[in-house]
Order: sequence, then C-alpha cells, then structure tokens
Amino acid sequence: MERVKTGIPGMDEILGGGVPKRNVVLLSGGPGTGKTIFGQQFLYHGLQNGEPGVLVALEEHPAQIKINMSQFGWDVRPYEEEGKFAIVDAFTGGIGEYAKRERYVVRDPSDVAMLVDVLREAVRDLKAERVVIDSVTSLYLTRPVVARSTVMQLKRVLSGLGCTSILVSQVSVTERGFGGPGVEHAADGIIRLDLDEFNGQLYRSLIVWKMRGTAHSMRRHPFDITDKGIVVYPDKVLRIQRGIMEIA
Ligand SMILES: Nc1ncnc2c1ncn2[C@@H]1O[C@H](COP(=O)(O)OP(=O)(O)O)[C@@H](O)[C@H]1O
Ligand SMILES: [Mg+2]
Repeated sequence: MERVKTGIPGMDEILGGGVPKRNVVLLSGGPGTGKTIFGQQFLYHGLQNGEPGVLVALEEHPAQIKINMSQFGWDVRPYEEEGKFAIVDAFTGGIGEYAKRERYVVRDPSDVAMLVDVLREAVRDLKAERVVIDSVTSLYLTRPVVARSTVMQLKRVLSGLGCTSILVSQVSVTERGFGGPGVEHAADGIIRLDLDEFNGQLYRSLIVWKMRGTAHSMRRHPFDITDKGIVVYPDKVLRIQRGIMEIA
C-alpha cells in the first residue's frame, strides 16, 4: 500500500509510516491547537519531496498565509512560480488588488459547487498530490445539516483526483466531537489535536482516532509547536487519570 509521509517529525511513526494514499483526513481541534500549522507543514513537506500541493484558504487572506508559512521557514513562492503550489482563494471573494492577480479565486465561498470547480481546476493544472482545506467548517457552519454531504462531496472529488487530503475541522474548546454532524463518518481518517489546561499550564497532545487502511498508535501523544513547526513525540504518552495529568 502506498503511503504519503506527513513529514511532521514523529507523526509518520504514529501512523505506521504515513497516511494511506488518497485518504481524506479530518484534522479536528479547538482554536490554537495547531491545525493550520499541521496542514501547512504537510503541504510543504510534499513540495520538498516533489509532490505538488494546493491549499484552499477559507479563514485567512492568502497573502497572510504565505507570511505565516515563511515564519516557519516554509517559503512557497518558488514552488508557486514553478506551478507546483497554489492557494485557492476562498477568502477574499475576489475583492481587492490581491485577488485580481490571482488565478484560483472562489467568488462566492458559500457556494460549495463553485469551490469544488475551482479546486478541481487547480488540482488538474498542478497535478497536485496533496490538498489541504482550511477549514471545511466554514462551508457548513450556518447549515449543519449539509455537513456530512459536503465532506462526502469533497471526498469523492479529491480521492477521485488521486489526492491525499487534510480537511481542517474546527471544534469549540469544550466539544468532545470532531466538528459537524456525521463528518467523522464520511472521512477516511481522523486526527484530533487537543490543548488541555492543568495547574495553570496548557499541554498539547494529539490522537489518531481513525485511519482507514492502516494500523496506527491508539495512544495520546504529546507534541510541541516550535519555530520549525510541529514535533510529535511517538515514544511519549499523555495520560489523564482522576484529574491528574502525566506524560510518560
Ligand atoms: N513560532 C512559534 N513557536 C511556538 N508556537 C507557535 C509559533 N507560532 C505559533 N505557535 C502556536 O501555534 C498556535 C496557532 O496554531 P494554528 O495552527 O494557527 O492553530 P489553529 O489553526 O488550530 O487555530 C498559536 O496559538 C501558538 O500557540
Ligand atoms: Mg487555523
């Protein structure tokens, strides 16, 4: 079976070697848990490895995304110029100077069919192998009933095009779920990022809840965000028992 390496230190060990090719993975977590950074690191590793990638931006301005990525040492401009990387702008709505110069713009980001058309065109042009959508939540925030069908539609298109994809899913700070009714059933994989407070200190951890096509770690692993991105500790486990947190 073919696997796609996330390139995130420690993460591929947890996944038994990487994400099975063509899987559509829901990356869910609360605010500030590292979802955006995880997705960008996954894409940048692909670029370094000769795998073209597309980032669908729904939450942040594409120009800001590039600035944020460069702060981790991920300079996408040369790949953009070579036609190996593109941002699908589903943020600006085509308004402003920046959007005028852009190639892949979704004029109405609430129109999922339009977004899928632009995404398909970008993936075909670039022969993209990796896709990140940040985030899918905004596609159905006001219409939770279509959450599952939206994810299914994206999955059909992305998997059909041969892409391995990460769909960022936002959950609230206290929510135990994965964001949106039924989306967790539509996805091939679920990685959940968490941020928990103990004794006045925040701790990061992640768990692979589901990954079609492979065995994976069933444990909750601590991770850090550094100025080079995410580092996961596959040999460490974060445990919470009777209100006591331990990392062993
Ligand atoms: N250079 C850095 N070093 C350490 N931590 C950072 C750095 N940059 C960002 N972070 C952490 O990453 C968090 C944002 O991660 P992000 O992926 O944007 O979260 P999400 O998309 O889940 O809301 C910040 O709240 C901060 O804690
Ligand atoms: Mg984010």
